[in-house]
Amino acid sequence: MRTLLTLALTFAMTAFATANADGHDIDCITDEQATITYVGDPVGNLADTERETIAAFEEACPNITVERIDGPASTSDLLSNYLTMFEAQSGDIDVMRVDVIQPGILKDNLLDLMPYFSQEELDAHFPGYITNNMVGDEMVAIAFRLGAGMLYVRTDLVEKYGFDGPPATWDELETMARTIQDGERAEGNDDFWGFVFQGNNYEGLTCNALEWQISNGGGVIVNPDGEIEVNNEPTADVLNQVASWVGTIAPPGVVGYAEEDARGVWHAGNAAFMRNWPYAYSTTLESEAIDGNFEVVALPAGDSGSYAATMGGWSVGVNQYSEHPEAAAAFAKHFASFQEQKRRAINNAINPTIADLYRDADVIEAVPFFDGLDAVFQGAAPRPSTVTGEKYNEVSTLYSTAVHQVLTGQEDAETALTLLEFELEELLAN
Ligand code: GLC
Repeated sequence: MRTLLTLALTFAMTAFATANADGHDIDCITDEQATITYVGDPVGNLADTERETIAAFEEACPNITVERIDGPASTSDLLSNYLTMFEAQSGDIDVMRVDVIQPGILKDNLLDLMPYFSQEELDAHFPGYITNNMVGDEMVAIAFRLGAGMLYVRTDLVEKYGFDGPPATWDELETMARTIQDGERAEGNDDFWGFVFQGNNYEGLTCNALEWQISNGGGVIVNPDGEIEVNNEPTADVLNQVASWVGTIAPPGVVGYAEEDARGVWHAGNAAFMRNWPYAYSTTLESEAIDGNFEVVALPAGDSGSYAATMGGWSVGVNQYSEHPEAAAAFAKHFASFQEQKRRAINNAINPTIADLYRDADVIEAVPFFDGLDAVFQGAAPRPSTVTGEKYNEVSTLYSTAVHQVLTGQEDAETALTLLEFELEELLAN
């Protein structure tokens, strides 16, 4: 049955494959007239590039119209929208962006895309990003972007205050941030801060806190054996340290910051250091205040002696309630294709999931740091979404809430982590 279906689809794909202006083959999969909806990413300068992706697709497949709506910038809000939509069995959105932590939560509502891909196409991707989307022998989404937490550094200010290079440890970051902030304030920039990051209570805080925790030797929240790792001294120590930064080297409002808020302060030239994902690189190049005086390096190390970068990334999947599953699959496939990943790498410094693009001369010329930071991307630390499966979102919410209580001074780290451990035990027990 599967073979017959695959054969039929292969035939369909051949029949409707067409080439667009840059010679890249686009599989339209169907000749049905369809209008499909895609939930776009509003962060950085991604909206424009996504519109170009859509234009290339519509040119090659004139029978399909893609309506792009802006999704929320927060992955946590996006997930709630999806869950509400699935609850109502709605086909309002056809093609959905799926965060690297979400396949386990969304799997029952996403269609199998395996029949639309050849083995060769799948082999071009980093295997971990394919495996992450596999549920049995079904592939519920196709990866188009990976990411890892990184440190953005103002090289001119590091030099101005007599430091040799970027901070190697969190303690060094603290000292450098304070010195630079004091100096810049003394020169009259009252809005200047040492360090900005994602401190709001949402998925982004889980990513930041996991980096602090692992780098300090505190474990990975829930390890692959299902053991809870949060209530320990290294984690408490680092959370207390970060809490002491709020209102000193980081703005008091950092406890409400997501990626775009941190990027706004940084972009205006008002931060010495920023923790963010690769997407902020291309817009930083356009910042007049920074004027090219920055670099992107691995995050600082904690007491464990090494740094940790949380693994991020996105795939696209097709809603099981879509009225146009083939047209939607065609667009998802195009979205994750070599050409479109290359476009986003060059225009937006979005890391591809296709290995060859890291050796592509055009890509490396546009985004030289992809080359030097290979180890950061390859060695990124996953959140415990595989081991906790459908419960991951609750795990992450409990974790970010506990961390947020520490950052806002509502709880000391020891109390918050003791309670968190108890809550996680209860949640994961059944
Ligand atoms: C980025 C990452 C994603 C993560 C999110 C948190 O979009 O790619 O994996 O969940 O940030 O804010």
